[in-house]
Amino acid sequence: MAKTSMFLFLFLVIIVVGISATGSILSNEDPPIINKYIWRSCKVTMYQRICYGSLVSYATYIDEDPIHLAIAAINITRGRLIQVNNNFLAIKNTIARNTSAVEPMTAAIMDVCIEMVELALDMLDESDKEVEALVDCKEGDKASHINNAVLWVGAAVTDQGTCLDEFSNDGTPPDLSVLGKHIKTFVFSRMNTTMSYTSNTLSLVKSLESSD
Ligand SMILES: *[C@@H]1O[C@H](CO)[C@@H](O)[C@H](O)[C@H]1NC(C)=O
Ligand SMILES: *[C@@H]1O[C@H](CO)[C@@H](O)[C@H](O)[C@H]1NC(C)=O
Ligand SMILES: *[C@@H]1O[C@H](CO)[C@@H](O)[C@H](O)[C@H]1NC(C)=O
Repeated sequence: MAKTSMFLFLFLVIIVVGISATGSILSNEDPPIINKYIWRSCKVTMYQRICYGSLVSYATYIDEDPIHLAIAAINITRGRLIQVNNNFLAIKNTIARNTSAVEPMTAAIMDVCIEMVELALDMLDESDKEVEALVDCKEGDKASHINNAVLWVGAAVTDQGTCLDEFSNDGTPPDLSVLGKHIKTFVFSRMNTTMSYTSNTLSLVKSLESSD
C-alpha cells in the first residue's frame, strides 16, 4: 500500500513538473509566424503540412508570386529526389558487393527504381523550363506552358509509382532476406515521401491555371 502511494506520488510529481516545464518553454517562445500566402496556396495540395513546412523557408523568394511558388516547389521536390537517387545508388553498390545477400529480384527492382527516379528528375527539369517560361511569355502561350508543366510533373508522379509497383510484387514470392526486407521498407518510405512532394507540386502547378 505504502509502495503504491509512493509510486503514485512520484508519478504525479513527474506529470506536474513535466507540465510546468512545457508551459514555461511555450510561454517564453514567440507565437509561430504563419505565412498566410503560402498557407492558403497549400490548401489545394493533398499533403498540406509537407507543402507549408517545405515552402515556408522560401517565403522571401516566393513573395506571393504563384510562379515563384511553383518553381520553389519543383526545386524542393528535385532536391528530395536527388537525395533519394543517391540513397538508391548506395543500395545498388551494397548489393553489388555481396550479390548473395538479396534475391536477384531485389537487385533488378533497384535498377528499375533508379531508372525511374532519374526519369522523374528529367521530367521535373522539363516542368521547370515550362514554368520559368511563364515569367515573360505572351498571354496566348500561357495555357500551353502550364499544360505542358502539368504533364511533366504528372509523369514524374507516375515514374515513382512504377518503382513502388515493382516492389509491391503481387503474385511473386517476396525477398525474405534481412537486407532484402530492409531495402523494401526503405524504398517504400522514401518513394512515399518524394511522391507526396511531387503530388503537391502537381497541385500547385495545376493551380497556375486559375491564377493570373
Ligand atoms: C533550388 O535548390 C537549390 C538546392 O537544391 C538551391 O541552391 C537554390 O537556391 C534553389 N532555387 C530556388 C529558386 O529555390
Ligand atoms: C553475403 O551475404 C550472405 C547472406 O547474408 C552472408 O551469409 C555472407 O556471409 C555474405 N558474404 C560476405 C562476403 O559478406
Ligand atoms: C504515404 O503514406 C501515407 C501513410 O500510409 C499515406 O497516407 C500517403 O497517402 C502516402 N503518400 C503517397 C504519395 O502515396
